[in-house]
Amino acid sequence: MKLTRKDILGIQDFSVAEIELVLDTAESFIEVSTREIKKVPTLRGKTVINLFYEASTRTRTSFEIAGKRLSADTINISASTSSMVKGETLIDTAKNLEAMNPDIVVVRHSAAGAPHLLAGLLKQSIINAGDGAHEHPTQALLDMMTIRAKKGRIAGLNVAIIGDISHSRVARSNIYGLTKMGARVSVAGPATMIPRGVETLGVAAYTRIDDAIRGADIVMMLRIQTEREKNNIFPSLREYANHFSLNSRNITLAREDALIMHPGPMNRGVEISPDIADGPRSIILDQVTNGVAVRMALLYLLTGGDE
Ligand code: CP
Repeated sequence: MKLTRKDILGIQDFSVAEIELVLDTAESFIEVSTREIKKVPTLRGKTVINLFYEASTRTRTSFEIAGKRLSADTINISASTSSMVKGETLIDTAKNLEAMNPDIVVVRHSAAGAPHLLAGLLKQSIINAGDGAHEHPTQALLDMMTIRAKKGRIAGLNVAIIGDISHSRVARSNIYGLTKMGARVSVAGPATMIPRGVETLGVAAYTRIDDAIRGADIVMMLRIQTEREKNNIFPSLREYANHFSLNSRNITLAREDALIMHPGPMNRGVEISPDIADGPRSIILDQVTNGVAVRMALLYLLTGGDE
């Protein structure tokens, strides 16, 4: 099977077959990263531009590593070192990059819909590396890959997503993906961080962490997206941590074999206690490892590769 779409913009319009194609392909790429010479010639002669208008450690680095392990030429552009600081618009920047004939442009932007705008303007494939509070499709794919690898399935699992649901593109993409794949998803956070009508996406919503994590197979903790919050939506970090941190007390409500996830960056002592983040049930660094494989799979599939 091949991926027939030009762009990766969100999980909302992904089919189950497409998600499985990406996860299966990513699994086949895991081995490349364990070799002594971590390189295959698959994308030799292809050019990937990482255009990041927001800070990133994991996503940008893993796209760069993914491209390099496939022998693509990868170029990183960040807002602070680009001509955006001289007033150039996103569209002008993108049209200039298009004129240099890359094959794939990976975009992270604070504005929801920015990658969709570029997908309509550029002939190159666009990958959404996070657009505002909208979607982070490659994160959800690596999360689903990690869950499937650790639990052997996604369907039928109870997944609790805890924290700033309203401002989290990770939560939104995971809700779309996990519910499509047959998981039961619960979300919890302060009422000010739960989007109105979130139940219409097929999830159960709670304002107490205990209600969401009781019986969970997977507990996914989220950072408070302070960069997207215009008002103070909780009294203090200490109060937030008292009510919504995952710790050695409330984790006992989850299943005994429950696994802990976090997309990063973590704020230790706020949404997750250090002993849980570093404990035996944490698969947070497995998520990071799988991020390289998922991004290798997407670069490969978008350039015409098949399963
Ligand atoms: N999970 C994630 O998107 O991390 P970065 O912001 O470091 O890329």
